[in-house]
Amino acid sequence: MGSSRLPGFYKMKMAERLRRLAEQLELDSDDLDGLGESATLPLANADAMIENAVGVLGMPVGVGLNFLINGEDVLVPMAVEEPSVIAAVSLAAKIAREGGGFTAGADEPRMIGQVQVTELANPEAARKAILREKEAILASANALHPAMKSRGGGAKDVQVRLVKVGEETQAIVHLVVDTQEAMGANLINTMCEGVAPLIERITGGRVGLRILSNLADLRLARAACRIPFEALADFGFAGAEVAHGIAQASRFADADPYRACTHNKGVMNGVDAVALATGNDWRAIEAGAHAWCARNGKYQPLTKWWVVDGHMHGSAELPIQVGTVGGAVKANPLIPVLLRMMGNPGARKLAGIMAAVGLAQNMAALRALGTVGIQKGHMGLHARNLAVSAGAKGSAVEEVAHALIAAGEIKLHRAQEILAKLVASRGASAEVT
Ligand code: MEV
Repeated sequence: MGSSRLPGFYKMKMAERLRRLAEQLELDSDDLDGLGESATLPLANADAMIENAVGVLGMPVGVGLNFLINGEDVLVPMAVEEPSVIAAVSLAAKIAREGGGFTAGADEPRMIGQVQVTELANPEAARKAILREKEAILASANALHPAMKSRGGGAKDVQVRLVKVGEETQAIVHLVVDTQEAMGANLINTMCEGVAPLIERITGGRVGLRILSNLADLRLARAACRIPFEALADFGFAGAEVAHGIAQASRFADADPYRACTHNKGVMNGVDAVALATGNDWRAIEAGAHAWCARNGKYQPLTKWWVVDGHMHGSAELPIQVGTVGGAVKANPLIPVLLRMMGNPGARKLAGIMAAVGLAQNMAALRALGTVGIQKGHMGLHARNLAVSAGAKGSAVEEVAHALIAAGEIKLHRAQEILAKLVASRGASAEVT
């Protein structure tokens, strides 16, 4: 693919954006079919995906621009309803390019399935017995999905934790499964249910729950960047001031869980938008990320920012459980198109990209928060979106946005009033485009 820099993309009409995308990705315009006007999930697919379906809820899909990750340009599809998320992340990615972009990666896609064993006469003896029979348990799990095993994945390890649940000590068996390109929930649940009778025979206990854990801490994704001060100057602030503002905001999040939660919400704005656009289960990712944050007994931020030698450094680390095959990916015809837009990354690469997007999204928020404040920092972005919502088209979008900012009231009703005046000033018949 060519560069992920597409200057002026936001000013184009949607059809022009699609043409530009196809050109950039060296695709035929047919390859992007499903984007643009026809971009809705067919009702038949919706009906097959869930129960009691009554329709399809539209969600805007946009492109995060300017990402350079491990030296490669990536166009990032994002599905999100919140204004300014995509503009902000694209700006942060543009700034990060000045320092060579992001490095990113992820662990092998190993997930944990839990089998809870209760009513044990001797929990420690049960633990040892399970570990002695590890190979038999793995073989029994893998027999349930030979194709996954032949692809190099499948059940790889068995671990046992003794956990006090009320007054009882239970053996919690962890089946560690390499899920390859899949997120893996179905595979793991099948395996956990499948090995339960064997585990009961081995331990003499009674199996309770058999389900994956979304605390996917064997499957961490990471991203980092190093940005020269000069690239950060904005809002009338010197680059060093912006960098120190961001580092200070990062220390605040380290110190205070109330702030860390909002800080992490900003990170997840980016991560979830990519999860949605790629057909992944964002609730699993959310649950995993927040449990991971609390692993040391205190809720902590997912990212850190600090200053060394004229550069701002940032890093992110979080569990990201994603797949590029399976259920939702197959059911929604738009997902393969959006994955193609990203260059069809595998699950592991996708997780790394998502960590970089989360880090960039967080930088965009802290950059505004550490200087002029989020309202002013994102005001221009909000104003433009409101102008579009009010019905402005073409050059009128910028005119209405400017007038909104000048009026100091970034509200939809104000945008409608300004647009109505603009139409009137050009004569009743004049089209405001
Ligand atoms: C809003 O969606 C996200 C922020 O609140 C994140 C943050 O405070 O860091 C701006």
